[in-house]
Amino acid sequence: MNFFEYRGRELYCEEVPVERIAAEVGTPFYLYSASTIERHFTVFTQAFSAVEHIVCYSVKANSNLAVLRLLADLGAGADIVSGGELYRAMRAGIPAQKIVFSGVGKRVEEIRQALDAGILMFNVESAQELHAINSTAREMSRKAPLALRVNPDVDPKTHPYISTGLKKNKFGIPVTEALALYRDAAAMDHVQVVGVDCHIGSQLTTSEPFGEAVRRIMGLVGKLEGEGIPIRYVDVGGGLGIVYDEESPPLPSNYAETIIQALGTRDRTVILEPGRVIVGNAGILVSRVLYNKKGATREFVIVDAAMNDLIRPSLYGAYQQVVPVIRAEDREEQIVDVVGPVCESTDFLARDHKLPAVTSGELIAVMSAGAYGFPMSSQYNSRPRVAEVMVRGDRYQVVRDRESHEDLIRGERFFKE
Ligand code: LLP
Repeated sequence: MNFFEYRGRELYCEEVPVERIAAEVGTPFYLYSASTIERHFTVFTQAFSAVEHIVCYSVKANSNLAVLRLLADLGAGADIVSGGELYRAMRAGIPAQKIVFSGVGKRVEEIRQALDAGILMFNVESAQELHAINSTAREMSRKAPLALRVNPDVDPKTHPYISTGLKKNKFGIPVTEALALYRDAAAMDHVQVVGVDCHIGSQLTTSEPFGEAVRRIMGLVGKLEGEGIPIRYVDVGGGLGIVYDEESPPLPSNYAETIIQALGTRDRTVILEPGRVIVGNAGILVSRVLYNKKGATREFVIVDAAMNDLIRPSLYGAYQQVVPVIRAEDREEQIVDVVGPVCESTDFLARDHKLPAVTSGELIAVMSAGAYGFPMSSQYNSRPRVAEVMVRGDRYQVVRDRESHEDLIRGERFFKE
């Protein structure tokens, strides 16, 4: 459920007409509904109320400070993958004690930064990384709390580019090797094993793969505890899908039930790392139509947002619904490609998309753009990154300024002869 809806002919975000914001802020811009984020987070965390749990929102999905602050105020922790995300999470007021650090390539500086901050745990992805964490913690006279990220080899049945828990993926430690590495970790002086972790992929639309992954890692937990290595935290990652088109992902309550059942015990703390399900349908990308163009075989609607602003359609062939911000009556629907000004043939926001005829100057909205939208944007073609706006009730605020041309060259300098 989200708070974007038509009232009469006009698309609203909560109590604010989208067109009004476009007139005042200019286009393109991302628009987030605070009440939707709040609702998604609350429903998600309540689904796990039967067990001790921490919802570590996956910062990569949308890392705007206003989004993070909103979630911090609701009691969220954070799943981070870089020193930059740690910085953002802490700036937003997320307590270090609720932050888990995932990712296959943590640099020593980042390990140090996380130890300094006092994070909840590192999710370790390789033997070499385990050694790097141990030696960094030794230098700092610290003990690093950690889990090994285990690759359970479960097929998440999602897009191959966003599945992570298969044998062939770069993520995690094969479940067959995890026990030996846990023994090594338990013998190290400067790390403390506190958990086990997995994450099998993103945009999953069924619960079974989550259940299967949890059962597999609980098998490992049994063995570890049998060897005297206690496991307090079971981190089951993120990945619950959302509706972009006609998917029917499980409700958070069904998802939670599957996981809780697969855990088979209630005396451990479960860590969840949801990203998309919290913010995906809480954001849209608003853009203005520049031109219409009839190609030899297709119709193009050329808009002022492009693949550099929202790369999901180009990168994954992902479907994102495009709608007019003002629904004019008696407009025929057309099949069009919605494309941007970037000089690439893959620069499209939608392909073969049914859209009521829209012409120059009208506004369109790309729906479900709150996750992996702005954070994956770039300045390609020297296009300043777009503004981000947040609505709550009848108020809106720009929570990230549109970049200027000056921003484009920040930090650059001429080579001195
Ligand atoms: N935890 C870990 C370790 C992850 O790698 C991810 C996402 C998450 C949690 C959050 O997953 P979520 O709940 O959002 O599915 N850019 C792609 C998605 C990449 C996901 C990467 N990892 C997209 O736009 O579809």
